Amino acid sequence: MSQQAAEWQRQGLKIALVPTMGCLHAGHLSLMHKAVALADRIIVSIFVNPMQFGPNEDFGSYPRQLEMDCRLAEKEGVHAVFCPDAQDMYGPSFQTKVSVANLSQGMCGADRPGHFDGVATVVLKLFHLTRPDVAVFGQKDFQQLAIIRRMTADLNLNIEIVGCPIVRDPDGLAMSSRNKYLQGESRNQALCLSKAILAARRLVAESQTEISADTVISQTRELIAQAGAKLEYAVVINKDSLQNESVITEKSVLAIAAKIGGKVRLIDNARLFLERV
Ligand code: PAJ
Repeated sequence: MSQQAAEWQRQGLKIALVPTMGCLHAGHLSLMHKAVALADRIIVSIFVNPMQFGPNEDFGSYPRQLEMDCRLAEKEGVHAVFCPDAQDMYGPSFQTKVSVANLSQGMCGADRPGHFDGVATVVLKLFHLTRPDVAVFGQKDFQQLAIIRRMTADLNLNIEIVGCPIVRDPDGLAMSSRNKYLQGESRNQALCLSKAILAARRLVAESQTEISADTVISQTRELIAQAGAKLEYAVVINKDSLQNESVITEKSVLAIAAKIGGKVRLIDNARLFLERV
């Protein structure tokens, strides 16, 4: 991969990287579509990264479908699919980790200790291996995107980080490889995340006066509980700093994580001002 990327670089070709863990869906494909518009050579990495999974998480059962993924990537105009082995990425003496301290602490970082160190470390390794000029990520993983932007700036990586909108199923559910785990009633229950976000946006749009984050969060809690799901967090944060906000501003994002059917952890988020989303 490195040799191929270096060769493309020598030829003056602009390289885009789309990092993924595979089991590609329309959300991933939208990132590839964006990458095709931005660069001459598109690399998609597919690597289920053990370093970002906790001991009781779904590393073992994470859905894998490499052949199908390669066909989907090729159809989008991708030039290379990079799918390293865990042994190649993390040799027996491996001991380095990249940590984006503050941004990794709240939200998913609080529920999944060490997760974002695993993400930052693997993404930095993927950047070195594929030498991209631009890398494309989804806003679905809002905290992850902020962390990658911070790491890229802090370490002077000279890579343009592009964020793309969340792609949803027609009924509103944000696409995720983990949606494969949702069966029967769970698929229906999972809609409570996007419904709660829509309801919050409606609340903000219909309010004549300033509205507090607490009001939005209480309504969100109620809707998630009514659906029988377990809320892990609901926060109103500034889209750039990820700091909690007490009143809704143009920069406010509502971010939610909830467990569906007692075990499938899903996330979703959106800007709260309708016209800005
Ligand atoms: P993965 O969950 O496979 O997601 C790969 C990329 O697809 C991420 O940038 C994610 O935000 C984006 N994505 C997922 N669902 C999306 C949707 N519905 N709409 C738009 N974009 C979506 O995120 C990871 O893998 C890993 O943490 C990774 C960055 C590859 C590091 O291992």
